[in-house]
Amino acid sequence: MSDLPETMKAIVLKGHGDMNANEYHEDWPTPKIENPDDVLIKVHACGMNNTDVNTRTGWYSKVVSEATSGDGYEEIDTDDPSWGGAPITFPRIQGADIVGTVVAVGANGDPSMVGKRVMADCWLRDWDNPLDKNSTGYFGSECDGGFAEYTKANRHNLQVVSSELSSAELATFSCSYTTAENLLNRVGCKQGDTVLITGASGGVGSALIQLANRRGAKTIAMASESKHGDVAKFNPTAILPRSPTNLAKALKDIIGQETVSIVADIAGGDYFPTLLDVLERGGRYGTSGAIAGPMVELDLRTLYLKDLTFHGCTITTTNVFPDLVGYIERGEIKPALAASYKLEDFKKGQQAFIDKKHTGNIVVTVD
Ligand SMILES: NC(=O)c1ccc[n+]([C@@H]2O[C@H](COP(=O)([O-])OP(=O)(O)OC[C@H]3O[C@@H](n4cnc5c(N)ncnc54)[C@H](OP(=O)(O)O)[C@@H]3O)[C@@H](O)[C@H]2O)c1
Repeated sequence: MSDLPETMKAIVLKGHGDMNANEYHEDWPTPKIENPDDVLIKVHACGMNNTDVNTRTGWYSKVVSEATSGDGYEEIDTDDPSWGGAPITFPRIQGADIVGTVVAVGANGDPSMVGKRVMADCWLRDWDNPLDKNSTGYFGSECDGGFAEYTKANRHNLQVVSSELSSAELATFSCSYTTAENLLNRVGCKQGDTVLITGASGGVGSALIQLANRRGAKTIAMASESKHGDVAKFNPTAILPRSPTNLAKALKDIIGQETVSIVADIAGGDYFPTLLDVLERGGRYGTSGAIAGPMVELDLRTLYLKDLTFHGCTITTTNVFPDLVGYIERGEIKPALAASYKLEDFKKGQQAFIDKKHTGNIVVTVD
């Protein structure tokens, strides 16, 4: 502990706004163990997520009704700009998908963890009552995260990972795959289901393909046509463009049936009613994002006359992260590392993440 530098490199978010709200510092105070459950981590890599961008721009604020954008919005309400609908405290170091080596543990920690490589569950919880969704927070939103040389986490959030994957590869998993696995749990995905996946070239979408395949379901991936070659590497049953004009016909042509039992949606927006139209009677719709726009048109007759079930999917149950680590260790899922950027090049990396020409995940690496 005494060998640790007093200051470190970090990307510090100074307030809501455009990319320039992120500042690179080389003299930011290194976090210290303050709580007996704290664990101090030397960060190797930290994945990027839309939550970082949406929190910076304040997109979660209810006054914003547009699709997500990396540039910021004319108006946000600083009372509700975070995923949880509460104000954000600045300065803030973002970054949830932390992979690193334990360098120190608090009084309640296990000293044998020091030197081990760990991954972090993105969800902060009240560990005396971990099922209480009202007391959750997100790494890099309600506390500092991993876009820095060092970070700290509650010992319960960390798991040692035994894997030959690089730290950058491991940093692709936490947020995207726990979100996807939680959604599949919520909609009850199992063998025999046919799952239609929007944004299938993205972090959550590519995770949904692999995790639904793992359960023995059929997967139909929807993605921009330029990305179909890369999406095919995740082995979906079939691939469709982002928004076919006649979706029922496109499904019939490609899988021989016009309907699906599950829609796993991260897009929302104008295409939402079309997705519901191809859900079979009794079908299940799960959403964990609205990258194409949060305001959608719902014909209630579609919902009740077809006996559909809707699931909103954000905070994971506590089993999801350990389950995910098991899948990684057993090689049941593979990373989709599109690119990695050094901490110093964070802005370039986040711009590439916003431009969305990639397939899979983008990661920041720290020397
Ligand atoms: N609830 C949660 O806890 C949680 C966790 C993680 C993410 N999310 C949310 O889920 C969404 C997806 O996250 P992600 O990490 O997978 O994002 P991502 O890696 O950026 O991928 C999103 C994909 O969506 C597609 N897309 C972009 N704009 C679109 C549009 N207007 N219409 C249809 N498709 C569009 C793109 O694919 P193509 O170019 O191939 O169409 C892109 O690859 C985001 O809104 C994010 O905020 C929520």
